[in-house]
Amino acid sequence: MANVTVIGAQWGDEGKGKIIDWLSNRADMVVRFQGGNNAGHTIVVGNQTYKLSLLPSGVVQGKRSIIGNGVVVDPWSLLDEIARVGAAGLKITPDILVLAENAVLVLPLHRELDTMREDAASQKIGTTKRGIGPSYEDKVGRRALRAIDLKDVASLPAKIERLLAHHNVLRRGFGHAEVDAAALLAALKDIAPKITPFIGSSWRELDAAKRASKRVLFEGAQAVLLDIDHGTYPFVTSSNTVAGQAAAGSGVGPREIGTVLGIVKSYTTRVGEGPFPTELKDATGEKLGERGHEFGTVTGRKRRCGWFDAVLVRQTVICGGVDGIALTKLDVLDGFAELKVCIGYELDGKKLDYLPADANEQARLKPVYETLEGWSESTQSARSWAQLPPNAIKYVRRVEELIGAPVSLLSTSPDRDDTIMVRDPFIGR
Ligand code: GDP
Ligand code: IMO
Ligand code: MG
Repeated sequence: MANVTVIGAQWGDEGKGKIIDWLSNRADMVVRFQGGNNAGHTIVVGNQTYKLSLLPSGVVQGKRSIIGNGVVVDPWSLLDEIARVGAAGLKITPDILVLAENAVLVLPLHRELDTMREDAASQKIGTTKRGIGPSYEDKVGRRALRAIDLKDVASLPAKIERLLAHHNVLRRGFGHAEVDAAALLAALKDIAPKITPFIGSSWRELDAAKRASKRVLFEGAQAVLLDIDHGTYPFVTSSNTVAGQAAAGSGVGPREIGTVLGIVKSYTTRVGEGPFPTELKDATGEKLGERGHEFGTVTGRKRRCGWFDAVLVRQTVICGGVDGIALTKLDVLDGFAELKVCIGYELDGKKLDYLPADANEQARLKPVYETLEGWSESTQSARSWAQLPPNAIKYVRRVEELIGAPVSLLSTSPDRDDTIMVRDPFIGR
């Protein structure tokens, strides 16, 4: 068994896209298993930059790429993305891309509901307004449209009627116009012939891959602290982002997901609302944001920045099932005289070594820091361990110790090739 599952181990945007692109060279197939176009993954290869949201990051290396059943798919957005990367030279054909027949569709009404709720809420979640939450609700509510429904347009009117019976009540409540069933049907009929060539079976693709001893890379979006169960609820996304979801969201058994690689940024960022114990609302936070170019790929929002929180990552390593990590953006820490790492919290005078589940308690946590010496040398674009200054190595070693997981990969710039392999995740834990 030589498969690898990649998940985010903080609040997203850790550099999963870069690492998956790099790893996909060693894989035969790449499979997305949750989330939707709320994800934004930037991949840099020389002077070409690709921004992917729904397409598995394996497409950049021309690997067979599956959008698994656990993903919620906005078909219009998918076609736009295919056209966009097509203009950048990546031809996405049904030979490369398979969309699971049982993946749920995100419709304009989901985006609108997401926006209506966010705009009306006094306590916002800060969603990407891509309709992700509402479409997962419809999935669990057993009224969603799925990719396969586009193959049977004759069945659509009844399915649309069921869906709108629910949505139009909500829309009336928000004082919003009802959805016109005929217009939605026409839009779906229009898009169906463009999407259906990609529709296939995720579980059968993966079964065939297993029989042919192919290597599969499972690609997570978002991250464990945004997981619907294990994250900072309610400031989370609407899917499970832990490694276990790779199995459920693609149609394989739990033993098939292989080694779990958690992607960890060398500091912490978060986009959207919610608790963030090590957030720096000062010049140091600004400096991290500027050096790290911390602006969201999807919404362009400024990401909140703070010191590395080892308590959180230790917890996501445990809940997420992480065997080893890829530590990214080490270069962003170049030139800081000292670096702080959170090693515990204080809550109402008591010491804690974990993130409590209660959102009010999370908001009151005071970080307890350990200070490490920084380094003045550049680690940018370092491609070997030997090129790293001693204090950078000390930082990496201390991170490993605190989170209880070894570093497999180190990343020192956005570029694919600026990656140091300490141990090959495909070779096993
Ligand atoms: P993802 O959502 O986890 O795939 O991450 P994003 O692509 O949203 O955000 C990560 C950003 O950091 C992207 O702009 C990457 O190009 C960039 N990046 C990734 N690794 C590194 C690194 O090691 N150093 C620097 N400076 N930038 C990196
Ligand atoms: P990648 O894959 C960072 C955040 C949103 C919001 C919360 C809920 O690029 O790491 P949603 O639209 O999912 O209902 O929003 O989750 N969020 C992300 N933050 N990276 C992401 O994806 C995210 N996807 C969702 O900002 O706080
Ligand atoms: Mg991102």
